[in-house]
Amino acid sequence: MSCIHLLKIVIYFILFNSTFAVLVNRTIDDQLGDEVTGDKPIYQPSDRKVWVPQGTKGGIKPDPKSAFNGTWTAAFYRANSPKISITLEFKGTAIYVFFILSKKTITGCFFTLNGNFLPLSGPFIKKSWLDTQYNATIFSKTDLANSDHTLEISPQGTCDAYIYFDYAIYT
Ligand SMILES: *[C@@H]1O[C@H](CO)[C@@H](O)[C@H](O)[C@H]1NC(C)=O
Ligand SMILES: *[C@@H]1O[C@H](CO)[C@@H](O)[C@H](O)[C@H]1NC(C)=O
Ligand SMILES: *[C@@H]1O[C@H](CO)[C@@H](O)[C@H](O)[C@H]1NC(C)=O
Repeated sequence: MSCIHLLKIVIYFILFNSTFAVLVNRTIDDQLGDEVTGDKPIYQPSDRKVWVPQGTKGGIKPDPKSAFNGTWTAAFYRANSPKISITLEFKGTAIYVFFILSKKTITGCFFTLNGNFLPLSGPFIKKSWLDTQYNATIFSKTDLANSDHTLEISPQGTCDAYIYFDYAIYT
């Protein structure tokens, strides 16, 4: 086989593999973390008084059977109190964040991706029409560069908000 021919095959495979790379979804559970890397979401403050695994603040009691892997992590943010946040790190081209929502309360958050506050998406403020709504997509962003990303989810400002983080998916 000539060198040129071999080179063509090598180039073909490089192009083929990068262009037609299979897109796979991976989950980041609130407690187990990334199903591949094991990286956990970073909850701040970290003393576990604010962010409570299986927290049931505001009288919201999700059914573990309906939550992803049976868990969620909850916090209550009181208007104008110090910042609290969840930080997710992932490598990929898309991210989807899922919360558990309730009819009783408002969930409100801001999103910062790679240090850039996302004003256009604005605060996400939502109330469920169901008593409890599972697998609610509260944020999604696609068409990202295929590299490392950091997403910060943070309720802040002048509204009280309950946060029930269940899991995220990235592609
Ligand atoms: C990944 O999950 C999101 C959210 O559920 C979905 O919209 C998307 O189509 C999935 N992508 C792939 C490649 O499976
Ligand atoms: C939410 O999604 C998870 C994972 O896909 C599933 O196990 C669970 O049953 C779903 N919950 C509801 C209420 O649809
Ligand atoms: C959650 O995930 C762990 C690890 O993959 C598994 O052992 C466990 O059975 C799962 N629990 C539920 C309720 O799905």
